[in-house]
Amino acid sequence: MINPIPFNKPHSNGSEIFYIANAINNNKLSGDGEYTKRCHSIFESKYGFAKCLLTTSCTDALEMAAILLNIGPGDEVIVPSYTFVSTANAFAIRGAKIVFADSSSNNPNICTESIRELVTNKTKIIVVVHYAGVACDMDEIKKIADSNNVYIVEDAAQAVDSYYKGIPLGSIGVFGAFSFHETKNIICGEGGLLSINDVAYFERAEIVREKGTNRSAFFRGDIDKYGWVDIGSSFLPSELNAAYLFAQLESIEDIQAKRKSIWRLYDESISAWAQKLGIVTPEIPEWATNNAHMYYLVCRDMSERDFVISELRKLGIGAVFHYQSLHNSNFFKGKHKGPILSNSERYSDCLLRLPLYYDMTFEQVSFISDSLNDILLRRV
Ligand SMILES: Cc1ncc(COP(=O)(O)O)c(C=O)c1O
Repeated sequence: MINPIPFNKPHSNGSEIFYIANAINNNKLSGDGEYTKRCHSIFESKYGFAKCLLTTSCTDALEMAAILLNIGPGDEVIVPSYTFVSTANAFAIRGAKIVFADSSSNNPNICTESIRELVTNKTKIIVVVHYAGVACDMDEIKKIADSNNVYIVEDAAQAVDSYYKGIPLGSIGVFGAFSFHETKNIICGEGGLLSINDVAYFERAEIVREKGTNRSAFFRGDIDKYGWVDIGSSFLPSELNAAYLFAQLESIEDIQAKRKSIWRLYDESISAWAQKLGIVTPEIPEWATNNAHMYYLVCRDMSERDFVISELRKLGIGAVFHYQSLHNSNFFKGKHKGPILSNSERYSDCLLRLPLYYDMTFEQVSFISDSLNDILLRRV
């Protein structure tokens, strides 16, 4: 009998504690100290983002994007329905009308045809989510955005270290928003990053992140006092989080290599037989890289998905499902006036995620794929 395998186990390479101790010894625990700056410069140099700002979460990075783009009542924001609530909420709290798009039939990313049908002269932003770290069809989406004068914001919560035709995700839209929540590839407990790809927003982004003050410019010595100059909130994380994140960034190559080897082993052991049973395994389009954020299956129906999850649980394996389609949520269902979003609903009903974390062993991956095979053969 193998030990229980949780859905996720946060990884630490050992140097996190050293850098956190160092931050404590530096007597600098609030934001924008040495570790925050070191994280910014790693992201800017490794991925070529024009400017980066660490935030307390991806949710906060998305909220900053909404403020920076002056989103308000009367604006429409197109968002995939199959996503985490923050993708929509960040714009809903500014008073925007959320217009939900469907997912593609072959993967959960936003469907470009669905976007085309939903654009109006009130559309201000298309928010794309690179599901499982796999790039959306960005050339098509850019064509729609450019021809309608609409911004693109990338919800890259799951998409660190992933690319579209060689271009880093998070650098294509006007803003990218990343998550370092403990379930992501690179983590710091709770944390996020806003990548800013247009110089026009550099100064205001610093202000919005610092409670609407020009404190960042003051700390740089650019001005001799700081004060309230705009709306904003407290979006910057503490140095303790940044120190943890810095340690993770130092070992990003190792983390990614290990996650990719787990992902490949899952795929080699599952995809052939699963497809014969009509179970869908992840598809990586030719334009996208795979950052091994997630290995998922799409079952034939909800009862099969729920059966598989409960049978895996009996064996101590923590498989989960996620994303209730937002257009069907309690908060939104009375407000959804758009078309039926059948692909989104299919992923909500049928998708399951398998455990995938750095410290998994190949033996555990094989145990999970063998167990899955047994469970599904028993059911057909
Ligand atoms: C697509 C997507 N967007 C946004 C978020 C929110 O991230 P955070 O928890 O860092 O706010 C998540 C969280 O998992 C997510 O999956």
